[in-house]
Amino acid sequence: MTGAPSGNATVELRTISLPGYDVTVGRGALAMAGAIAATTTRAHHYAIVSDEHVAPLYAQRVRDAVARVLPDAKLTLLLVPAGEEHKTRELWAQLTDQLLASGAGRDTTVIALGGGVIGDLAGFVAATYMRGIPVVQLPTTLLAMVDASVGGKTAVDTPAGKNLVGAFHPPAAVIADPDTLGTLTLRELRAGFAEVVKHGVVADAVYFANVEAAVPRLAAERGAGDAALVEIVARSVEIKASVVAADERENGQRKILNFGHTLGHAIELVSGYRLLHGEAVAIGMALEARLAERLGIAAGGTAARVVAALEAAMLPATFPHRMDPRDVLEATRADKKARGGAVEYALPVRIGEMSAQAGRWSVAVPDEDVLAVLD
Ligand code: NAD
Ligand code: GLY
Repeated sequence: MTGAPSGNATVELRTISLPGYDVTVGRGALAMAGAIAATTTRAHHYAIVSDEHVAPLYAQRVRDAVARVLPDAKLTLLLVPAGEEHKTRELWAQLTDQLLASGAGRDTTVIALGGGVIGDLAGFVAATYMRGIPVVQLPTTLLAMVDASVGGKTAVDTPAGKNLVGAFHPPAAVIADPDTLGTLTLRELRAGFAEVVKHGVVADAVYFANVEAAVPRLAAERGAGDAALVEIVARSVEIKASVVAADERENGQRKILNFGHTLGHAIELVSGYRLLHGEAVAIGMALEARLAERLGIAAGGTAARVVAALEAAMLPATFPHRMDPRDVLEATRADKKARGGAVEYALPVRIGEMSAQAGRWSVAVPDEDVLAVLD
């Protein structure tokens, strides 16, 4: 942990390193955005991409932080409407055209200020603009802090499914300021706990137990400055960072981070995005843990603990009764994790350990087993 001056205050920051970039976590870290951008990307033009909810709250703070350190840099703010339904090729084209109209060259850095939707969309703009310009991720949701901003996956959705057009484009830096969680709705905060629970299941049983204990209180109030919440952000980032560092391009071990996501993405799509990403992933984890038990991969009781932790975070953990299981099964076929037509699942052996049978981190599952857990 280091203390760093920011304007007139000192903020306590924690740095978690991945190959090529650092994630800075700490209350007040947003004030360091200029200093961190200056040391990692020294651009002539910073284009802040944000949405209609986040920009009024935090964009000026980011502008000030950059202008303080880089007074000669050009600053622009590009706004998009909020929500998953806008993580599209159309918005990618609109942002790209706005950058071109502003005269942005390859000496431009994109600053993605918002939740995972902004991180994925602005990250994909940066990945493709003039064959790739840097992006600094400033996540403002719990989900984006612990997951979406770290690891370099960027994408937009298409009508056929989530994240089907995208690129690996690691950020130049990630700056996570848990104070920004104070303005998040409780529903969005709870959605972030789905990925937190996932990190415990896939990698760390002790962390899972700590999350289980802390989550009933944290999910009931917007404790932005809560020390336990800051610890959770930092530990989840450490877990994600260590997995990504071992396998950035998801050829092997990174597949464990997809626990809950094969069914989760399908359920999110079939819900017409009425379920939040974290809510759909929560249901997906509960069902995939049951699938793992059914297949004899997971120890008995694993699914019950996953469900209990999700319910403690006030997240849904059962298949939506209005949904048709066959629609969800069909939607899984568009998943990027499908190999040779077979849909693959990353499944737990027990809390803290994922299946790596025969050196593979995901398994093809017959349709009848999937339908059995959906029913
Ligand atoms: P989101 O980006 O839609 O943000 C949720 C809502 O909260 C939005 O309305 C937003 O405007 C608002 N908001 C954000 N920060 C706020 C703040 N501090 N105060 C007030 N309002 C705020 O949703 P999300 O859950 O952050 O991200 C979900 C997306 O992330 C999905 O598209 C998912 O596919 C993606 N994702 C990507 C990765 C990856 O590795 N790239 C990993 C996980 C999820
Ligand atoms: N959210 C899954 C991954 O980043 O690999």
